[in-house]
Amino acid sequence: MSDAPLRALGIAGSLRKGSFNRALLRAAHELKPEGLEIDDFEIGAIPLYDGDVEDKGDPEPVAAFKKAVQSADAILIATPEYNYGVPGVLKNAIDWVSRPIPGTKTRVLNQKPAAILGASQGSMGTVRAQSALRQTFQFTQTLVMLQPEVLVALAQTKFDAEGRLTDEPTREVLKKFLAAFLAWSRRMKG
Ligand code: FNR
Repeated sequence: MSDAPLRALGIAGSLRKGSFNRALLRAAHELKPEGLEIDDFEIGAIPLYDGDVEDKGDPEPVAAFKKAVQSADAILIATPEYNYGVPGVLKNAIDWVSRPIPGTKTRVLNQKPAAILGASQGSMGTVRAQSALRQTFQFTQTLVMLQPEVLVALAQTKFDAEGRLTDEPTREVLKKFLAAFLAWSRRMKG
């Protein structure tokens, strides 16, 4: 009997259509191993975090994000790097989803298997943003995979004009990463 597929939620930390990180998630769809399914969630509609708004109840996009994370077996985040850190739109979305489901003590990031990957136009391939995100996941007790890493540097040279990942070594690294992510998530789920 084969294992049930692992259902991951894919999140791109960039809102622009031509985003390399969005393109990296698309490549993950293409290169994922058998047994891994990825559904994407768009964070663009999530408002800026405001505790006064939260006190009146989660805005609909926030409630939808919490529900999507809760029902996923694992999360897969492709983050850009802005000024050596996590882009505000992504950090903001994580801040919202880190909060309990209203009226409960349930925090959907707690004990959730996760993996981070990223692409930047710089030479360090989001290494600093990924480190910062790991620090956030320490607080949220999110079970983020340690290794391998996907650090796509000089992204403008690794995707074609249609946003397809064409760099063969990067495709190989991504394949190994996704296989490890599947194994990690299954192990963390127990
Ligand atoms: C950047 N960029 C960037 N790149 C990098 O490697 N390290 C960095 O610290 C930054 N800082 C930064 C700040 C801001 C405000 C912007 C808009 C951009 C460049 C970044 O890698 C490039 O714009 C990527 O293309 C962004 O990712 P997406 O949107 O293509 O997914």
